[in-house]
Amino acid sequence: MIVAIVNIKGGVGKTTTAIALATMAARDGREAVVLDTDAQSSASLWAWNAEQNGHPLPFDVESANIATLRRLGDGGGRFVVIDTPPTGKITDEAKDAADFVIVPTSPNSIDLQQTSAVADTLEEAGKPYAVLIVRAEPHTIALRSAQEYFAERDASIFDTVIPKRADLGNVYGQPFGSNMHGYEDAYRELEKATGEAV
Ligand SMILES: Nc1ncnc2c1ncn2[C@@H]1O[C@H](COP(=O)(O)OP(=O)(O)O)[C@@H](O)[C@H]1O
Ligand SMILES: [Mg+2]
Repeated sequence: MIVAIVNIKGGVGKTTTAIALATMAARDGREAVVLDTDAQSSASLWAWNAEQNGHPLPFDVESANIATLRRLGDGGGRFVVIDTPPTGKITDEAKDAADFVIVPTSPNSIDLQQTSAVADTLEEAGKPYAVLIVRAEPHTIALRSAQEYFAERDASIFDTVIPKRADLGNVYGQPFGSNMHGYEDAYRELEKATGEAV
């Protein structure tokens, strides 16, 4: 199973989502790997910091280029998560290589238009995908409006919403603890959406 985490916006939570889902897969007993295609190397530095602090992540983070993605095939039975930069050829290659694309977005109105443009492209390409609302304040009008926005457009969207949590901002550079902040539900939804144990 190959999952790409994509959005043309930076700082929305792509890397956090990639690391969280790989964590879930590893805890499920799967061989997981995060392929870091972002020149900013956030995922790789996350793994490096965790290792330096003596608490390594429960999966490998490898840097990957276009050739790596083309060689992936079906992922060889692993749970492969591709973390991407906002735009560029490598992001397109990641979408092509993926069985499923996750588009994380905040519920802020500025992000919604960009996210829906990404969703439209995936829809047109016939690529299975779903928008994942992250960094949301629960029970707010902003969250409800965002959900309505995607519903009106018939966009594919996770029921799970990842809340805005200071704890999640602090988990960078370390492994997740027992609190997965909703990513456990996103992982189960992903399993259902892809019709197999991811
Ligand atoms: N649900 C959340 N609540 C609070 N902060 C978050 C959440 N998700 C991510 N962050 C923080 O937001 C920043 C950007 O997240 P990141 O995953 O690096 O985004 P991207 O990879 O899209 O640039 C990071 O500082 C991260 O720790
Ligand atoms: Mg990132």
